[in-house]
Amino acid sequence: PVPGPSAGGWRHLVWFHRQPLYWLKSLADQYGPLTAFRLGPWPFLLASGPKTVGTILRRHGKEFVKRPGLKTDNPLIGAGLLTTEGSYWAEERRREAPLFTPTNVKRLLTADVMPWSVKWADALPTDRPVELHSLFLRGTLDLVIRTLFADSGPQPLAAYQEDLAWIMHHFYHRLRSPFRPPYHWPWPFNRRYHEHARRLETFFDHWHPEPKLYETLGTRFNPNDPGDRAKAVTLLLAGQETTANALTWTLWLLATHPHWQQRLWEQPEELDGVLQESLRLYPPVWLISRETTRSVTFEGYDLPPHTKILISPWVSHRNPDVFPDPAAFQPQRWQSAAPPLDGYFPFGGGPRRCIGQAFAVGEMRAVIQAILARYRIEPAGPEPTVFPAMTLEPGTPVYVQLKSR
Ligand code: HEM
Repeated sequence: PVPGPSAGGWRHLVWFHRQPLYWLKSLADQYGPLTAFRLGPWPFLLASGPKTVGTILRRHGKEFVKRPGLKTDNPLIGAGLLTTEGSYWAEERRREAPLFTPTNVKRLLTADVMPWSVKWADALPTDRPVELHSLFLRGTLDLVIRTLFADSGPQPLAAYQEDLAWIMHHFYHRLRSPFRPPYHWPWPFNRRYHEHARRLETFFDHWHPEPKLYETLGTRFNPNDPGDRAKAVTLLLAGQETTANALTWTLWLLATHPHWQQRLWEQPEELDGVLQESLRLYPPVWLISRETTRSVTFEGYDLPPHTKILISPWVSHRNPDVFPDPAAFQPQRWQSAAPPLDGYFPFGGGPRRCIGQAFAVGEMRAVIQAILARYRIEPAGPEPTVFPAMTLEPGTPVYVQLKSR
């Protein structure tokens, strides 16, 4: 059998809900690259070694697929790129690929993201502390809308920040809960979800846009088509919170490592190392889940069909065999070294890797450069806690003070 703790499923369930990051890491530290354990009565594997992770991600669509829990019945995003599988997914991935080619991403960054970042950074307050997480949640939503959708209409989509946040919250709880009442059940949690979803639906009902997204794709957005809506909302959800969290953690790391601010001021080309290191320590997507499609012999073990597998970039990125002194913020580790094959995967890997990676990195570069060109950043509150929700959020407010240069 795959090595792992032989009993304690219910205890594990409690730990997984309370401290998933530290508990999963302790399993990997204790049992190695592939570990078997139970959450309550349900058997799981944790894949953490570079080779195991690489194989699973690369063989997507063959022996491994996303877990059905993720192939959500969610009416808003269920038919989007993130959650579908098979030929429907492949067709949609092909259709959306032109939006994220290097040429198009460069065009979006130059035409929209860079000018936006400069204007936005100019307006940041210096007379009081700013809370980074809410600042970036609003900022990245605004950005993703402007660049991909073209903001328009009497009610800009940014007004729906709270609804989007609630939908993510609901989606997250549903994923983590073994109990998933169908969406049409009159469950209180469902009811609140539908209130928020309806507000978002109203936006699409009244959308009379020239959505850049669909211009680039060469098709027309049909506001009455649930499939088109799902695809649009998927890009909003996948592109907003991830980038907002990555920016929050990066700025906090810079605030608490002022010599790196100085170094970036003198050598801006080192920004990529800082971003890579920040995504290593705080990967916004902290958990990826898969399951086997059929019986698979893997790493010498026989896995039955529907074996549930968890992969955590947070855990794998702290593997001391891959990253010496793994808990330390050391952007210089990226100067000479290329990212270790399969040991570093903040954007996933294989066919389901993040389609928005180049856009996200360009966006983060533009925003951080614009901030550092104008301000020095100092911490103005306690070290934030880490809260692994749908993405890796700060669990407490992240206050910094900006000081004009
Ligand atoms: C998929 C991370 C930004 C759109 C993924 C996956 C990861 C990821 C790890 C793979 C999940 C899996 O295999 O189960 C991130 C991070 C981001 C980011 C860390 C920012 C720092 C973005 C942006 C967009 C985006 C800006 C779009 C504008 C998507 C989509 C998928 C995806 C559509 C699904 C791709 C597919 O299944 O074919 N992302 N992402 N992401 N991401 Fe991102």
